[in-house]
Order: sequence, then structure tokens, then C-alpha cells
Amino acid sequence: MSTLPDIDGYKSVAFSQATITELMIPSYSNFGGKIHGGILLSLMDKVAYVCAAKHAGNYCVTASIDTVDFLQPVEVGELVSLMASVNYVGNTSLVVGIRVISENIKNHSVKHTNTSYFTMVARDEFNKPAKVPGLVLENREQVRRFIEARRRKEIKQSYMKEVEQIQMPDNYEHCIELLQGERCLVAG
Ligand SMILES: CC(C)(COP(=O)(O)OP(=O)(O)OC[C@H]1O[C@@H](n2cnc3c(N)ncnc32)[C@H](O)[C@@H]1OP(=O)(O)O)[C@@H](O)C(=O)NCCC(=O)NCCS
Repeated sequence: MSTLPDIDGYKSVAFSQATITELMIPSYSNFGGKIHGGILLSLMDKVAYVCAAKHAGNYCVTASIDTVDFLQPVEVGELVSLMASVNYVGNTSLVVGIRVISENIKNHSVKHTNTSYFTMVARDEFNKPAKVPGLVLENREQVRRFIEARRRKEIKQSYMKEVEQIQMPDNYEHCIELLQGERCLVAG
């Protein structure tokens, strides 16, 4: 545990670190016998909330989830652990990094199934965004994660600006030309 839990409005990463471990039972599986991605997403949202609310000292909502790539399937009977820590804080938002691993209980092999970043926003008692405490960075890894999260935020902001500028050409014939080579049939 950190020796610096709270310094004048700042909290350490360790203060809010959270882990959820859950056994993958048969009702979590899909038709292929593997665990539903939605089950893992729900667990990730839960651990993100625990970590964010602990750091914020307030109720938090999920604002955005940054890429969830399922690297390997999770099997029924495995023990999934989700480890969450605050990577970055803004003004009223913070980014929780989550690493998910799955353990085969019989042979103790462990696989990394995914890593994702949840942006959570703190809410006050009037349901308005509330300022979150700053983050004490105690080692190189925490500094690296903070900088990477800030960079992802910048990239997302410029991506969103580009997406807003996407416009459909006025000329319908030109639109149809743009679809050449795509696997669609324009039927109207
Ligand atoms: C996310 C939400 C709180 C943002 O509220 P808002 O009034 O638009 O807030 P603001 O624009 O003032 O932004 C507040 C903070 O959230 C961040 N934020 C807002 N939308 C975001 C997004 N899509 N991605 C990342 N960060 C976001 C802002 O950058 C800002 O951060 P900062 O204070 O650290 O600089 C609001 O849209 C909301 O309540 N959404 C629904 C959340 C929810 O129900 N989640 C569960 C889904 S099932």
C-alpha cells in the first residue's frame, strides 16, 4: 500500500486500485461455449466504477470506453480477474485502466484476455460533474500511464473533430460511385 493516501486534494494510485475476481459459470457462455463478451464488459464497467468512485469520493458514470479487443477466448470454469487503477485525472473525469486475465484453475495457466481504458465522470449530489482529486504519481510506470492516457485523449479529440466533418456529397451519383468495390447493393 502507498504511504501517500491523500495529500491536499491528491490521492495515490494505490488508494483506489481495485480487483474483481469471478468464476466463469455455464450461464455466462455463448452458443460456441465461450464466455460472452458482454459478461466481461459488464465486469469491466463494475471494476471501473469501484476504482473511479473510490478515487473521486463521489458517484461516477461511464462516459466512454476506449477500445475493447478480446485477445483470447475465455472458457467456462476459468477464474477471471479484472485489475483496475486510475491512470489519469482531468477536471471532472478520470481514466481507469483495466487489465483482464483469466486463470485455468486446474493447471494454473494464466492468459491476458484484454486491456481497456474507461473514462468515468464524477457526479455531485445535484447530478452535476464534480471535480476529482489530483493523482500522486509514485513511479515511472504511473508517470508513463498518465502521459499515455493524456495522449489517447488528445488523439480521440482530434478524431472526433474529423468525424464531425464527414459529409455526404450532395451529388447522389457521386455517392454511388464512392460505393464501388464495396459489398453492398444499392436497391433504391
Ligand atoms: C458523460 C457525461 C457525464 C458528460 O456530461 P457533460 O455535461 O457533457 O460534461 P462535460 O462536457 O462538462 O464534460 C465533463 C467531463 O467529461 C469528459 N467527457 C465528456 N464526454 C466524454 C467522452 N465521450 N469521452 C471522454 N470524456 C468525456 C469531458 O472531457 C470532461 O472532462 P474534464 O472535466 O476532466 O475536462 C454525460 O454525457 C452523461 O451523463 N452521459 C451518460 C453517462 C451514462 O449514463 N453512462 C452509462 C452508460 S450505460
